[in-house]
Amino acid sequence: MRLHAAVVLMLVCLCLAIQAAYGCNSSPNEAANTNEADEDYEDEASSDSELEDEEDETVEDVALDEEDFDLICSQTEVTVRSQGTPDVIIIGAKKGGTRALIEFLKLHPLLKAAGPEIHFFDNNYEKGLDWYISQLPPVADNQLRMEKTPGYFHTPKVPRRIKAMDPNVKLLLIIRDPVKRLISDYNQFRTKNLDSGGTYPDLEDLAFTPSGEINVRYPALQRSIYHEHMARWLKHFPPEQILVINGDSFIKRPWIEVNKIEDFLHVPSVVTEDNFFFNNTKGFYCGREIRTKGVWSCSKEKCLSKAKGRPKPPLKDGTVEKLVEFFKPHNALFYEMMNETFGWPT
Ligand code: A3P
Repeated sequence: MRLHAAVVLMLVCLCLAIQAAYGCNSSPNEAANTNEADEDYEDEASSDSELEDEEDETVEDVALDEEDFDLICSQTEVTVRSQGTPDVIIIGAKKGGTRALIEFLKLHPLLKAAGPEIHFFDNNYEKGLDWYISQLPPVADNQLRMEKTPGYFHTPKVPRRIKAMDPNVKLLLIIRDPVKRLISDYNQFRTKNLDSGGTYPDLEDLAFTPSGEINVRYPALQRSIYHEHMARWLKHFPPEQILVINGDSFIKRPWIEVNKIEDFLHVPSVVTEDNFFFNNTKGFYCGREIRTKGVWSCSKEKCLSKAKGRPKPPLKDGTVEKLVEFFKPHNALFYEMMNETFGWPT
C-alpha cells in the first residue's frame, strides 16, 4: 500500500515537472513540436469573474445556410469542391467586429467561411489537422476558404502553430480603439452574467487597483495592448501577410474596408455600398446579397443579433479618460510597429 502511494507521488512529481518545463497544455501535437517549448507559454491571468475567454456567438449570427443559398442561387450548375486548410484566417481581435467582418466578406461569391468559431489553434489543437479541415467549408478551385477565431490574436502559442500549418496563409486582424474594445470585452462578460441572473463587478473594480492605479493584470485590458500581441505574430509572419482593418472605420463604412480586403486577397472587387443598408434600430449596417440567375433573382440579408452592438455598460466619471491616458503610449508603439496610424490618441 505504502509502495503504491510512493509510486503515485513520484508520478505526480514527474507530471508537475513536465508541466513546469513545457507549460500546462500538453497535447500530443505540442509534445511532438519541441520548438514550441521555448515560446512564451504563460496564459493570461484570469480574474475570478473572468474564468474563460467566452465566445460571443449566437445561432442567429452564425449563418449555416450558405451551401443551400449557393445551390439555389449560384450561376454555375455543378461545382466541384474540395476540402483543405484555410487560405485566410481572421485572427481577431476579440470584440473588434470579427463576426460582422466575416459575414460581410461572405457577400463575395469567391469567399467561403466556416460558420461557428473553430478555435483549433488555441483550444482544439489536440484534435489534429484532419479534424480542423473537416470543420472548414469545401470550396471550388477559384474560391478562398476562411475561418475566424478572435482568441488567436492574443494567445501566445497560436502564431507558431499557424505558421507550421501554412507559412503563406493570409491573416486579417480587425481592431477598434483599444478603450472601446476593452469596454466591449468587459460588457460581454457583464451582460452574460446579468442575463443569467448573476452579478458582475463594475469595470472600475477590474481595470483599476484599490489605490486607483491601472490593473495591468486584467485580461480584457491586456487584450487591448495590441503591440504586445502583434510583436509575437511578426516573429512568425512578415507584415505584408497581415492586413489590419480599422474596426471603427468598418462600422461606419464597411464596404471600404471590404474593398481593401478584396485587394489584399487578389479577388475581383465586387462588394459595393449597394450591398449594405443601415438598420436604424440596431445602429449598424446590415449586409445584403443579391444574385440573379436568368429571370430569377435570389437575395438574402444579414443583420447581426443583439449580442453585437450591445447597450454600453454604466461607467464612473473619469474612467474612460484614465484608460485613454493609459493606452496612449501603447497606441504610439503600435503605430510605429505597423508604420500606420489608426486615429486613436497618442
Ligand atoms: P459592441 O457589442 O460592443 O458594440 P465581435 O464580432 O468581434 O465580437 O465584435 C463585436 C462588435 O462588432 C460589436 O461590439 C460592434 O460594435 C461591432 N460591429 C461592427 N460592425 C457591426 C455590425 N454591422 N453590426 C453589429 N456589430 C458590429
